[in-house]
Amino acid sequence: MHLNQRKIAVLGYGNQGRAHALNLRDSGCQVIVGARPGKGFELAQRDGFTPLPIEEAAQASQVILFLLPDLIIPEVYSQLSPLFSEGQRDIGFCHGYAYHLGGIEKFPKTGYFLVGPKGAGVVLRETFQNGKSLPGVFAIVSPRKETRELALAYAKAVGISEKTLIETTFQEETECDLFGEQVVLCGGILELMETAFQVLIEKGQTPEMAFFECCYEAKLILDVWMKEGPQGLSKKISPTAFFGGLTRGRRLIDENTREKMRVMFDEIRSGHFSAEWKAEAQAGFPTLEKRLQEQSQSELQKTYDRLKGTW
Ligand SMILES: NC(=O)c1ccc[n+]([C@@H]2O[C@H](COP(=O)([O-])OP(=O)(O)OC[C@H]3O[C@@H](n4cnc5c(N)ncnc54)[C@H](OP(=O)(O)O)[C@@H]3O)[C@@H](O)[C@H]2O)c1
Repeated sequence: MHLNQRKIAVLGYGNQGRAHALNLRDSGCQVIVGARPGKGFELAQRDGFTPLPIEEAAQASQVILFLLPDLIIPEVYSQLSPLFSEGQRDIGFCHGYAYHLGGIEKFPKTGYFLVGPKGAGVVLRETFQNGKSLPGVFAIVSPRKETRELALAYAKAVGISEKTLIETTFQEETECDLFGEQVVLCGGILELMETAFQVLIEKGQTPEMAFFECCYEAKLILDVWMKEGPQGLSKKISPTAFFGGLTRGRRLIDENTREKMRVMFDEIRSGHFSAEWKAEAQAGFPTLEKRLQEQSQSELQKTYDRLKGTW
């Protein structure tokens, strides 16, 4: 059955949920938003949807998208599971975490799919509104081949480019995503910038100089890297920067760093990380709270606040 002929429940109206629901609707799909009372529910109403309680939305649909926080999905999934245990519905996710690491029961007659855009919800929506699409990934676990057609049609309708839609598995998507955010995007790069900023200040440089050098320019150099490629960048920067970066960069990121990365990957694969994250959530997120407190007092945050708007 064509995607437009099936009712799609988008459960959760947050970062991804809102973008998926709006893009699907603009692509001609029948979308039912499922949300708890509160912020997302009200926003969905303002966007012209008639949101329903989560269970009612799921009941009324043939395709159910879990666009809720990853640690919440298993709980909601288990409440709804009588609805899909017999395989009458297809179940979708935009990240493999809950499916792969969340301990949810998998029903052999049910079709599961993952469609993950490479970008935050606001970027997905803005790109779609500009008539463009984002790269993305998809994965299928299903006894029926229609689930594959459904996932491909869903990806297109939500704004993912057919040319850059990569097929993966739930396991690979989950492991790569967690590893990338921990080691590079939200861990490695940010710690590197902040530590380098602090060392320059320790050595008597001004926070302004340290900020522009270690943080502001990080974005500029990555833009050039994306446009020109690894070797293109090497040829664009000065020979002094090329030589200094090569010889010092490899002292910084050495065999020990590589070994730590392997351990971090193993912690993801073994379930050690997801157990730690679950315990953090059960304790009320103390580590995250402490970090936000530290950041509000940090020299880097203060420098950013002073300089914001000057570039
Ligand atoms: N953030 C991103 O850009 C991004 C990128 C790629 C993939 N993803 C994936 O997208 C999925 C959704 O993440 P998200 O960042 O979009 O989530 P989010 O912004 O945190 O949105 C969560 C939505 O779920 C609702 N919610 C939270 N707790 C709930 C509960 N206990 N019961 C019922 N509803 C609840 C929230 O309701 P209220 O509005 O009432 O709080 C909100 O509407 C996840 O699988 C995530 O890994 C996210």
